[in-house]
Amino acid sequence: MSTMVLREFWFLLVTIISATCAMHSCLARPLMMARTSRMLVLVASPTPSLTYHGGPLMTVRHLRLHVLWYGTFSGVQQAAIRDFLASFQATDNGNGGREAPTVRQWWAMVRKYKDANGNPPAGRISLGMEFSDTAYSRGKNLSNADMADMVDALYMANRKTRSSSMYVVMTAEDVLVEDFCMNSCGTHEVTAGAKVPFVWVGNAGKQCPGLCAWPFAVEKYGPPGPPLTPPNGDPAADGMVINLALLLAGAATNPFASGYFQGDASVPLEAGSACQGQFGPGSYPGYAGQLQTESSSGASFNVVGLNDRYFLLPAIWNPSTKLCQTP
Ligand SMILES: *[C@@H]1O[C@H](CO)[C@@H](O)[C@H](O)[C@H]1NC(C)=O
Repeated sequence: MSTMVLREFWFLLVTIISATCAMHSCLARPLMMARTSRMLVLVASPTPSLTYHGGPLMTVRHLRLHVLWYGTFSGVQQAAIRDFLASFQATDNGNGGREAPTVRQWWAMVRKYKDANGNPPAGRISLGMEFSDTAYSRGKNLSNADMADMVDALYMANRKTRSSSMYVVMTAEDVLVEDFCMNSCGTHEVTAGAKVPFVWVGNAGKQCPGLCAWPFAVEKYGPPGPPLTPPNGDPAADGMVINLALLLAGAATNPFASGYFQGDASVPLEAGSACQGQFGPGSYPGYAGQLQTESSSGASFNVVGLNDRYFLLPAIWNPSTKLCQTP
């Protein structure tokens, strides 16, 4: 196979996968998805085109993200994710003079989306409360309803924060979640009870790093090439940051399945998921694109954040140019 044919091949497969990723976040796992021929019907246009469906975006001025750590996480993982969520507030002080965009500049791409009144998603995002459930109070096999119930319970116990908050549920590497690693690395949705928006991202470190921590881990039969070195030293942590970013972008621009998306509302392509697998210029399926690398560790990144951390964040579909844009 020539390189071009290979590229086309991966592109087709990833296009198929993207079409099945819904409000879910999932990265390329070509063979697994390709086996299901029914998915072939869902092949989307290779150039995404999201349309606005007239509903609200998450336009609160200041969005607080409250995190529920469900199960056990390493200190390295928690620190990386906390610093990522706290990096939205950092202006220029985070990059220590380095020639890379900031997390805040990455979020500016999401703020190009506007609601019917011309208002963009939240300009200020901060890390709010944190909760920890190291006792696995609902066991190690969760349904989406379990997660929504946990979020509703936290919301009811902390109601004063309601108007401008979103919950983030992080599940540990030993927690099974409905659809996790089958076709999903995370989801964003609204609880059935109190209609609280939340994002869920699973730690794929043990279950499916090649799917949910790509390009820092690869599947045996996945896109060719070695994995990249993760900027925070842990493929699972850096994979969670990617999926969290992708889902925050989707939640902000399509919180109630009536904002910006392409395709069926139940399996939409959104601001981030429309550009899945793209992280830098020249990317194609199986190749993350041209990235900066840290000289000492060789780690790949495209933005800097708080505490001089590097992160790799996904491309966002630009509603003006209608192209996937990398930070
Ligand atoms: C997890 O729960 C689902 C739904 O109840 C069930 O079908 C599945 O077998 C469970 N998996 C394990 C490993 O217990």
